[in-house]
Amino acid sequence: MARLPQLMIALALVALVAVSGCSAAYAPSAEWPPVWSASFNDSLGYASTPGMYAYDATLTASRVDYLDPHVDYLCKTSGLMFGVEMCSQVAVDDMLFVMAPGSASCCQCCSYDQGCGPLERDWAAKGTYQGVVNINGVPSDKWLVMGGEANYYYQTVDRHIPILVNNSGNQLFYYDTTSFSTMANPNFFDIPSYCRSSAMCDGFCAKIRSM
Ligand SMILES: *[C@@H]1O[C@H](CO)[C@@H](O)[C@H](O)[C@H]1NC(C)=O
Ligand SMILES: *[C@@H]1O[C@H](CO)[C@@H](O)[C@H](O)[C@H]1NC(C)=O
Repeated sequence: MARLPQLMIALALVALVAVSGCSAAYAPSAEWPPVWSASFNDSLGYASTPGMYAYDATLTASRVDYLDPHVDYLCKTSGLMFGVEMCSQVAVDDMLFVMAPGSASCCQCCSYDQGCGPLERDWAAKGTYQGVVNINGVPSDKWLVMGGEANYYYQTVDRHIPILVNNSGNQLFYYDTTSFSTMANPNFFDIPSYCRSSAMCDGFCAKIRSM
């Protein structure tokens, strides 16, 4: 019995070392799975829209759907006439297409060479890890990724899945973590034939092309 307190102290020390050793070694990975999809809420303070994101690095493709096309700058300045229908931005085959599927209209925004390809799987992992913060009550790992401006990437601590992307404060994608999947329907990246022969987009797309 006399040895018990010492044993307790020894165990407590082991636990302490294990915990501090653990936090020192804690380095979450921000690398994306090769394929994933999730629905999101793009929120700008004055406006917000639900949408869907799909990513497939094996096809070098990605797709963003905005239910309200007027919230996204690329969509609303593209020259396409949107009514109430959604706007899709599909990066596939070395080109970013902007589509109004509801009215079967489309334009070509900019090429992968011009910087309009899908993100790399490790785009956020190349950033600076900034610790754990709460996003809507969910403990999340945070990275700062410097482009022209500061971008922030957040993923949940428990499942390592995206919860927020802050593009320099210009776009805030809050992902619905319950909708996250490591699958994306390959049909998401199919481009209708009216897109292949469509004109180049106006607006912000034209600016990107001339950069
Ligand atoms: C989207 O975000 C805005 C601002 O945070 C919020 O007001 C709105 O309710 C959210 N919409 C959805 C569908 O989550
Ligand atoms: C988003 O990032 C910008 C800096 O790029 C920052 O000023 C802003 O506060 C951030 N917004 C949120 C909700 O974290």
